[in-house]
Amino acid sequence: MPLTAAQCHVDDDIRRAETLPARAFIDPEFLDRELETVFRTSWQLLPESGARGDDPRPLEEQTASRGTRVPVSLLGRPLFLQRGWDDDTLRAFPNTCTHAWFPLVLGASRGPTLVCGQHGRRFDCTGRFVSQPGFAGLEGFPRDCDHLTSLQVAAWRRMMFVNLDPAARSFTDTWSEIEASLAQMPAPTDRLPSEEVREIAGNWKQHAWNYLDRFHIGYIHRPPGGLADAIDLGSYTTERYADSVLQWVYAARPEDGFDPAWLPERFHDPHKGRRVFALWWFVWPNLTLNFYPWGLSVNVYQPIPGRPDATRFLWYQWAIDREKHAQRDKRWLSSQVDAEDVDALAQVSRGLRSGFAPRGRFAPDDEHGPHWFHHKVARTVFG
Ligand code: FES
Ligand SMILES: [Fe+2]
Repeated sequence: MPLTAAQCHVDDDIRRAETLPARAFIDPEFLDRELETVFRTSWQLLPESGARGDDPRPLEEQTASRGTRVPVSLLGRPLFLQRGWDDDTLRAFPNTCTHAWFPLVLGASRGPTLVCGQHGRRFDCTGRFVSQPGFAGLEGFPRDCDHLTSLQVAAWRRMMFVNLDPAARSFTDTWSEIEASLAQMPAPTDRLPSEEVREIAGNWKQHAWNYLDRFHIGYIHRPPGGLADAIDLGSYTTERYADSVLQWVYAARPEDGFDPAWLPERFHDPHKGRRVFALWWFVWPNLTLNFYPWGLSVNVYQPIPGRPDATRFLWYQWAIDREKHAQRDKRWLSSQVDAEDVDALAQVSRGLRSGFAPRGRFAPDDEHGPHWFHHKVARTVFG
């Protein structure tokens, strides 16, 4: 029996709310529903590698000139990016012909029109059907659905994002609080070669939940040498927005924090002179943008269709200051913290399957981030 809305209801009030049930983290049917709801209606970062052959250039560069098109893949769905021929607009389309569903773009190409390899249907760079042998004068043709569906696409800080839902909230609106927090910070444009893709244990939601959980820091990342040493845990702040959550905290040592001139007023600490250690932005449903004085670390917790108990972890880094980046392990052991989280979540995955995992409750002062997340998953999956 599929999980029902009642079994997954998460109360608006954190004092009454229960977590999603354990089954929502291991049930393939629930993951299918998430792919059709949560992941179909949210902004997703297009992975930089995979599906595109061996062109090592960033997607942004590959699609820079007029008329270029590049196939990409997002959570198992074939798409392609297309730069306009008569304009500079970047568009995204499903990579599926509207005639008999052959893939339209098998490799990167360029030109004013695109011809399907199976029966010659031709489209322009805006996705409009142009012609096809054998279809001249056919009544009621072309229909709206013979043109390609134009998907929302956005380029931000040299990363590309797509949203499969034409009615979804715009990228600019979704990112407005994030942009405002970064307005005074130099842009991290120096892409570091340390791109990583790996598979880790646990459902994608466990990783998002854990990211939003400040409660575990004092336990899992405890001193000595842990994250808990590097920060002033008592100052930890969670700001919740419609589609994003910001967590930030002051550094234990001022030299580990941001130059206050880089951040808006609300992050300043005129009395004690503390400096912000990091801006940890979570973007619904599975992206994290982690800003440090050295630059930006980007993580994506990608679900793997058909496999609810594993997550594909994508990791990219962009430097503002390579020197500071090289020294970041002197400040806190990010790889140690990462290993502690991966290990803890593998343990939780076993607990989930024990048959003795009741729905949890939330500590009202410490678990606002996790409550926001569980509530939003339940709302999005069940409408
Ligand atoms: S599938 Fe594309 S023209 Fe037939
Ligand atoms: Fe952690």
